[in-house]
Amino acid sequence: MNVPLLDLQAQHRTIKDEVLAAVHSVIERQAFILGAEVGQLEQAVAKLCGTKHGVACASGTDAILIPLRALALKPGDEVIAPAFTFFATAGAISNAGGKPVFVDIDAGTFNVSPAAIEAAVTPRTRAIVLVHLYGQMAEVETIAAIAKKHGLALIEDGAQSIGARRKVDGQWRMSGELGTVGTLSFFPTKNLGGWGDGGLMVTQDDAMAAKLRSQRLHGGTLQAAVLLAKLNHLNDWNVARRKIAARYDAEFTGLGAVTAPKVDAANEHIYHQYTIRAQRRDQLAEHLKAQGIGHKIYYPLALHQQPCFASLGYTAGSLPVTERATAEVVSLPIYPELTEAQQGAVIAAIRGFYAA
Ligand SMILES: Cc1ncc(COP(=O)(O)O)c(C=O)c1O
Repeated sequence: MNVPLLDLQAQHRTIKDEVLAAVHSVIERQAFILGAEVGQLEQAVAKLCGTKHGVACASGTDAILIPLRALALKPGDEVIAPAFTFFATAGAISNAGGKPVFVDIDAGTFNVSPAAIEAAVTPRTRAIVLVHLYGQMAEVETIAAIAKKHGLALIEDGAQSIGARRKVDGQWRMSGELGTVGTLSFFPTKNLGGWGDGGLMVTQDDAMAAKLRSQRLHGGTLQAAVLLAKLNHLNDWNVARRKIAARYDAEFTGLGAVTAPKVDAANEHIYHQYTIRAQRRDQLAEHLKAQGIGHKIYYPLALHQQPCFASLGYTAGSLPVTERATAEVVSLPIYPELTEAQQGAVIAAIRGFYAA
């Protein structure tokens, strides 16, 4: 059985009428840029994230770049970030004129380590960019306290974590709620994906919101209409993803060669990715490919090892936990429309590989 890593056509079949009606309404009004739906999306997403403001923008990459630009970084100003993430996280730091300072991750959750952040702070540090990787929140409250202590801005890269939450002092806190700015991506493959690029920034701060608004350029109404229609389903979709993850977890427990992703007890994961650590990972990936099972390695090369950051002087072994993760992780199909039979095929292929 062929099982794709993600099946957006299956999703579209379930919501086609609603989304096409929303798009048609925009076309009838011919209000393509910053129409009413953009403001509605901003308000709905800010409410979801527990923030005062939402500011839509062109992509998840811009959502990181715009608040970093608002800091007016000077040459040599440092911004701390994980190296185990999508390129945009650090690309935005460089594009805003900052120097990325990469730190290591926790081996269990793959999220950035607060202790490593604290150790990396220097007099030149201006900001921290954390990433809520794969849909599970980092220890944002601890990192926010470090940021506050040193007078740094905190940007939460929530491209993969819309709707994820974490219990802090007995209270649920949303992805994007506690940082100076929280960012979201509506790239089509995300848990809430548009029909093209899109992004959004959330913040509690009135002055920051005004700055972000003045620099966001524009926002596409068609995308907002699509996203608003889909937003009604996001919670059900995230619940369905957790159910699929629970079955994988149960199946992989006791399979020594595979380690299921660890979820911090305080977190509610939204499983943008279901990412295992696997022995003989590259051979397993070949086997999955031969069996028609979709899979992908996020991320095969850490950012501190990218040629474009060679001048920063990192070497092999600089970030050992990150480097080990790049050699061991593989992400498996997880999306609300994945059928039990399809998931069974994924599990059988993995079991078959290690039984051989
Ligand atoms: C962690 C992370 N940050 C930033 C981005 C950039 O988002 P976009 O593709 O919408 O520019 C992505 C997504 O691709 C991501 O996964």
